[in-house]
Amino acid sequence: MIAGFFQFSPVRAEPEGNAARLEEALRSTQADLLVCPELATTGYLYRDKEALRAVAEPVPSGPTVTRLAAAARATGRAIVFGIAERAGEKIYNSAVLIQADGPVVCYRKAHLFDTETEVFDRAGATPRHARVAGADVGIMVCFDWRFPEMARVLALEGADVIAHPSNLVHPYCQDAMITRSLENRVFTITASRTGRETVDGMTLAF
Ligand code: ACM
Repeated sequence: MIAGFFQFSPVRAEPEGNAARLEEALRSTQADLLVCPELATTGYLYRDKEALRAVAEPVPSGPTVTRLAAAARATGRAIVFGIAERAGEKIYNSAVLIQADGPVVCYRKAHLFDTETEVFDRAGATPRHARVAGADVGIMVCFDWRFPEMARVLALEGADVIAHPSNLVHPYCQDAMITRSLENRVFTITASRTGRETVDGMTLAF
């Protein structure tokens, strides 16, 4: 298996343009599995749930997943990226794994970070494994890294590789993920976004 990652600076509230960046990355990679950032379709910083709802999408019927599913079929490759998932009245900070054949796997982030709790709903247990190019790929999202049980349970469930879409704001995760890999005997791929976002006087640098 060839695994890769694509880090970029999603434009806030521009899901169509961000989906085009993801599609271009998938079409131009040689990786069997391409891991992309958390909330890659919407950008990260939302303080207002209605603003987030306006750019959230249902999975798998929404436009971004539909578009990337077509690209996955055309290329035979798999992609994992973060998406604001609209499910009825609820909005989840989710990551989808899409491949040429097989169901779209949609994992809802278990550990919401800081002000995410103001706009995202709390998730129950959701599917988080897929078989890609002969390997079991488990999914976790950003702040899940802080809780060693997440990677351990994914490994006990059979993961060979952990795909980890992220929007990192603290400097500790990169080192911690090396430890998660060693202690669980799994490969881990963290893809963080780049750039900065400012909303309502709050700025985050990723
Ligand atoms: C984070 O969970 N996005 C820090």
